[in-house]
Amino acid sequence: MDDFWERSKAPGFTPVPRVKPEESPGTPLEKAPDPELGHGIIDPRRYFSREFMQLEWQRMWTKVWLLGGREVDIPEAGDYLVTEIGPESILIVRQRDGSVRAFYNVCQHRGNRIRGCGIGTTGESLSFKCPYHHWEYELDGSYRRIPDIDTFPQGKPAHALTEIRCDTWGGFVWYTLNESPPPLLEYLEPLPRHLEPYNMHKMVQTRDITVEWDCNWKTSVDAFNETYHVQGIHPQLLWYLHDLDVQIDCYGRHNRYLIPFATLSPRVRKPPSIPEPIKTIMKAAGMDPADYDKPIGEIRRDVQRHKRAYGASQGKDYSRLNDDQLTDDFHYLIFPNLSLNVHADDFWIFRQRPHPLDPDRMFYDIMTFELVPDGKEWPERAEHKRWKHGDKTIGLVLDQDAENLPGVQAGMHSKGFKGLWIGAQELRIRHFHKVLDDYVYGPQGKPAGAL
Ligand code: FES
Ligand SMILES: [Fe+2]
Repeated sequence: MDDFWERSKAPGFTPVPRVKPEESPGTPLEKAPDPELGHGIIDPRRYFSREFMQLEWQRMWTKVWLLGGREVDIPEAGDYLVTEIGPESILIVRQRDGSVRAFYNVCQHRGNRIRGCGIGTTGESLSFKCPYHHWEYELDGSYRRIPDIDTFPQGKPAHALTEIRCDTWGGFVWYTLNESPPPLLEYLEPLPRHLEPYNMHKMVQTRDITVEWDCNWKTSVDAFNETYHVQGIHPQLLWYLHDLDVQIDCYGRHNRYLIPFATLSPRVRKPPSIPEPIKTIMKAAGMDPADYDKPIGEIRRDVQRHKRAYGASQGKDYSRLNDDQLTDDFHYLIFPNLSLNVHADDFWIFRQRPHPLDPDRMFYDIMTFELVPDGKEWPERAEHKRWKHGDKTIGLVLDQDAENLPGVQAGMHSKGFKGLWIGAQELRIRHFHKVLDDYVYGPQGKPAGAL
């Protein structure tokens, strides 16, 4: 079984009806040609080697565009957010003229962090005072005041806060440590056209959680890049999604898969009544499952029809979404570290960030957003919370993923493990590692024997 189309001929496979690409008003649906990436193993040492971690930092993390935060979280001049990537901390600041600028979050006196992680405001001062000796900076990073400046015979440093590039798209602020990056929109190609039809700017943040996991950041990215493990560790999901009729599309740097929801996996026997998770989907759409007397296989299309008919009266604008988008999970990887589950009424971002020092640890950020119907009051955003894996639940499905990953990471170190043996359902993993190789090893390609 070489690819999705071959798989679709397998016994027991029931394809799901799909919207035709030419009938999609916004997000493209065409199947992208599968890249020719071979069948080789992926070297497990890249998941724990400190040398490879350094190469990633020098050649990839400091070259790509990264998600900083949400524009709506810093609406006024002096509002700021601090985000971390590997060993660096970044200060993103709303300016007096409404623009956004970003700086390394480090005081030029003796290197103190100017602000801690999170969202905040300078208040009326419109300045940042370093807590150590009170060197004070304007919103644009220039100096406002240095206490006892006459005791510095050399005067003040010629350089003030070190600025980095940032830009906005999709209601988010993005930044890059690359001094000559491609434009953000060019970097994100072709995803802006895919994601713009969703009303991301009309969604409120409902979860904002960071959990420390004992695995490499890529071990986690891989876990969200294939549906093959659904039958392994998430068997309950087989009662409301089709884990085999999954369209995989690899683009230049990024990729996606499209998973039909509100339908059964062909791996399960048809149940006598509608499974509870599908009932939940029906109720969320405003349908009453008790009234439904058609076969389960028709529910997905009927949920789509119902949302199409009643969305506008519920204050939800689905006009730029095709019918499949009203039920299905459109799942994108924005290279290198964002997994997006995008739905008509909500979207989730999972972000993997490397630990500053240890390739066997990482930070997993969960950000979820829900559509606020037109005319409804905008609720307060969720507060940020942070803990170590195991201290609290992050929900059944993500707990299942999280519990599995330290075991995978430990196995990567084993002398008995030769490398990742990747199948067609895991094509996105192969593509992700190829893009990573392109950054790490450049256009001349990976040298023989390299990780
Ligand atoms: S380190 Fe910031 S004022 Fe001294
Ligand atoms: Fe999973």
